[in-house]
Amino acid sequence: MKTKILRPSKRNLIKAANALIAGEIIGIPTETVYGLGANAFDTLAIEKIFVCKNRPQDNPLIVHLHKKYPLLDLVENVSDRAKMLLENFTPGPLTLVFKSRGKVSPLVSRGLDTLAIRYPSSKIAQRLLEMCNIPIAAPSANISSRLSTTAARDVKAELEGKIPLIIDGGKCTVGIESTVVDVSGDVPVILRPGIITREMIEKVVGPIEEKVTVGEGRVVSPGVKYNHYLPSVRVFVCGYGDFERAKTVYRILAEKGKNPVIVCMHGETHNFLSLHVKDFGKNPKEVASNLYGVLRSLEKKFGSIVICGLDPTDPEAKSVMNRISKMHRDID
Ligand code: TXA
Ligand code: MG
Repeated sequence: MKTKILRPSKRNLIKAANALIAGEIIGIPTETVYGLGANAFDTLAIEKIFVCKNRPQDNPLIVHLHKKYPLLDLVENVSDRAKMLLENFTPGPLTLVFKSRGKVSPLVSRGLDTLAIRYPSSKIAQRLLEMCNIPIAAPSANISSRLSTTAARDVKAELEGKIPLIIDGGKCTVGIESTVVDVSGDVPVILRPGIITREMIEKVVGPIEEKVTVGEGRVVSPGVKYNHYLPSVRVFVCGYGDFERAKTVYRILAEKGKNPVIVCMHGETHNFLSLHVKDFGKNPKEVASNLYGVLRSLEKKFGSIVICGLDPTDPEAKSVMNRISKMHRDID
């Protein structure tokens, strides 16, 4: 099969909607990262996603909905706090986990009694969801454990020959995956941080909890226990402002013939004159939107990547660092 990149014309969106209805899996743009979409009612299509991505069998999928799709068709109960989060942050880069009504394929939630729901704000995603009028299960469009994709050509490079088409929505504006919040219990719990930060959520619903790692022997969000977001070359992450450490790691890697590059914020590049250095962006939001694209281009040209950590006190930087810290390997 040849993988085609299609521009988001009406004709091509109709083609994509028909492919989804027919049980195909396709690349779809969202504001966070590209998704690998499939009809959430179609068990065979959901199975295809797991095979295509080589995704661990116990990692559930997020279901994407058109903004007018009746949520209560799919989930049991929408608490007042969940309603407030929906009103304030959706459509947008937020995923909410509810008690499921069990209406979509049981393979979507992998045996959990909950269902993760997201209303993407991307206009193209919304048009496509409206045209096909079904819930679309979509993980990030990358091979499991690899970097997510934020441009159609990156999806093609990653999944060439495995899917028939990708709708080209340009570069994703947010650049990191949605914030995942479990609203199935009394107190909302952040399971995966994102650009909608804990601070923003607490302003709307008051104090919440955060369980972004494995807790009390039970995996809260199955995805968190796997290796994630890995470039094909090794990554070393240095502490915020620790430019001396970054230079030392760079030197060691260069001596070992690992052809390193340093990646840092725009205002930090002057610390690394005469070394290979790449600018990640001017602020944490820009870094988020450039993160996966920059790393995908660097992994093609360099043998190792040294990343300068972002300010850990900045809420948006914290979400970006959640992804970056999962890429780190100790220097040996
Ligand atoms: O921004 C995003 O969320 C992107 C775009 C395509 O929408 N999607 C995405 O999907 O990042 P994925 O499959 O790469 O990550 C989904 C995360 C995983 O960590 C998974 O374990 C968690 O959501 N998840 C899904 N359903 C869940 C559930 N019922 N309970 C707890 N966690 C769930
Ligand atoms: Mg993913």
